[in-house]
Amino acid sequence: MIFTLIGFMGCGKSSVGKSLADALGWDFADSDALIEKGEKMKIPEIFSSLSETGFRKLEYSYISDMVSKYRKEGMNHLIFALGGGAPVYRPTAELISRQTCTIYFKCPVEELIDNLKTDGIENRPLLKGGDLESKVKGLLSKREAVYSECASMTVHPYSLTPEMLKSRLR
Ligand code: S3P
Repeated sequence: MIFTLIGFMGCGKSSVGKSLADALGWDFADSDALIEKGEKMKIPEIFSSLSETGFRKLEYSYISDMVSKYRKEGMNHLIFALGGGAPVYRPTAELISRQTCTIYFKCPVEELIDNLKTDGIENRPLLKGGDLESKVKGLLSKREAVYSECASMTVHPYSLTPEMLKSRLR
């Protein structure tokens, strides 16, 4: 079974996802890390050479490869943290809605902003330049509906427990 974690930058998909996977003995992957490893480039470099549209297509191909790999018989369960913009690209939204259990990590905007201030925005080219708060609010308002539409479960990241994930296994 594949659980994909979606939600805005800074909501905790990678940190919470990794600790849940460790607690359950499941595998964990992060789409940004896979892309950077595969392309041997950092996310901002990929954005500047391919533009956002090119990045979304590349992101789709990495996500789709990982989903195909883990849908094979005998694979361990996988918690897969996706980049915050992945579901904005329709083919990715359709793929994860149909083939994985998609969990939306929904956080109040103030919490996202605080986390982003702590984490930094070096790997997040869409938040660079200008006022962080207005960028986050603007992007989030465009994306919220997409996140909710894709999700089979919506939770605050810290309220998701290993038991809740186990109860979703089929
Ligand atoms: C993006 C989110 C980032 C990364 C890229 C674009 C987005 O991932 O994929 O900077 O469009 O929301 P995180 O959500 O892990 O920060």
